[in-house]
Amino acid sequence: MKKKLLCLLGAAVMSFTAYGADVTTDVVVVGGGGAGLSAAIAAKEKGANVILLEKMLMLGGNTNYATAGINAANTDLQKKLGIEDSAELFYNDTMKGGKNKNNPELVKKLTVDSSNIINWLTERGADLSEVVFTGGQSAKRTHRPTGGQAVGPVIVDALANTAEKDGIDVRTESEVVGIIKTGNKITGVEVKHKGETYKINAKAVVMATGGFGANAAMVAEYSPALKGFGSTNSPAITGEGIKMVNSVGGALVDMTEIQTHPTVVHNNTTMITEAVRGEGAILVNREGKRFISELETRDVVSKAELDQTGKSAFLIFDQSVRENLGAINGYVRRKLAVEGATLEELAQKVGIDGKTLVKTMETYNGYVKAGADKDFGKTVLPRELAKAPYYAIEVSPAVHHTMGGVRINTEAQVLTADGKVIPGLYAAGEITGGVHGANRIGGNAVTDITVYGKTAGENAADFAKNSK
Ligand code: FUM
Repeated sequence: MKKKLLCLLGAAVMSFTAYGADVTTDVVVVGGGGAGLSAAIAAKEKGANVILLEKMLMLGGNTNYATAGINAANTDLQKKLGIEDSAELFYNDTMKGGKNKNNPELVKKLTVDSSNIINWLTERGADLSEVVFTGGQSAKRTHRPTGGQAVGPVIVDALANTAEKDGIDVRTESEVVGIIKTGNKITGVEVKHKGETYKINAKAVVMATGGFGANAAMVAEYSPALKGFGSTNSPAITGEGIKMVNSVGGALVDMTEIQTHPTVVHNNTTMITEAVRGEGAILVNREGKRFISELETRDVVSKAELDQTGKSAFLIFDQSVRENLGAINGYVRRKLAVEGATLEELAQKVGIDGKTLVKTMETYNGYVKAGADKDFGKTVLPRELAKAPYYAIEVSPAVHHTMGGVRINTEAQVLTADGKVIPGLYAAGEITGGVHGANRIGGNAVTDITVYGKTAGENAADFAKNSK
């Protein structure tokens, strides 16, 4: 993947001589993560001239960190495997996870379009050939690459290669510092590249700069309880795009809704994917006891962890979980997981009560055999944890996703506080608010960025075509 991304960077560097000079195009897309790449490709494939701007050296943004998968209902893969699911069930799970604070129209589009987006991504080279459970879902609908490899790099790679093939003008290290408004219309952006500022005049602008999960001051401003928390986000995710859209009249929604991810390496910012729990890992406290249904939504699990001694917990799994989830090999390689030949040895190494842990595991394995978790009612019990070696990772919550952001409609058009469309301005992905309500379901971010990225790109291209 690295080689191909560098290749793309090479293409961007080749157009370096044009940087610094004002330029005119049909559509400018701001942000080179999954949402921006989807938008740029969709606009280009509709016949628009497109410039994609990324402030970092590499493409991908937060999408590079996405691991568990992409949620979708009614897909060809689900049908092939006999999994019963529907857009309606997906809608209900998403609304319930978001505490019904989500914008229902945005969720309806997300869930109805989800199956098509899997095909769109697959046609562009993304391997999404497995489907599993993750938290808060009533059907297996998290689509992921073969062997449980992390989904984000696979999607970024596929989209970056497509952008290159499509001949999109990709400009990295190019930070947008202002959106240009002429009368009531958006007509371009101001870009800073290596200290020089220039203008891109465009008929439509798509903002896809992500949320603000890496901006600790902004997180604390909107949610003082999260002051001092770590963040799983790329350092690029600092919220300037949200402020810029707001400065040209775009309304903001749900800004105080900020999600923590419950399995982040304690005192580190490395996220351990929810898929580990999806494959059967349990969470125990220092006393060696389970304390929650591990596949509850992230807000519930995070809160339960903070109630335990030391405000952290231990994610415990065995070799069979590792064998079913390729992403774990990376955690072991990076020495994030402690290994024990027996549960007692593992407990001793990480400082938890060994006798209780053994008992907890016997009870849990009994629940798996019986198909019912009598303690916490977990409904997904994929396997007994009985194959040595065993692994433990100490985890605690860290800031993961900002659900709030720019207000959009189902056409990905940015709206003012009184619900009016701002002509020429589109937004997609974590920069927007409303899709996830008060709590995002794991696996829904990648659906959001691709469904709304594609929509924003297509509509921006149409708008540009019809503009004089
Ligand atoms: O746990 C995870 O892999 C994260 C997934 C997500 O945020 O959607």
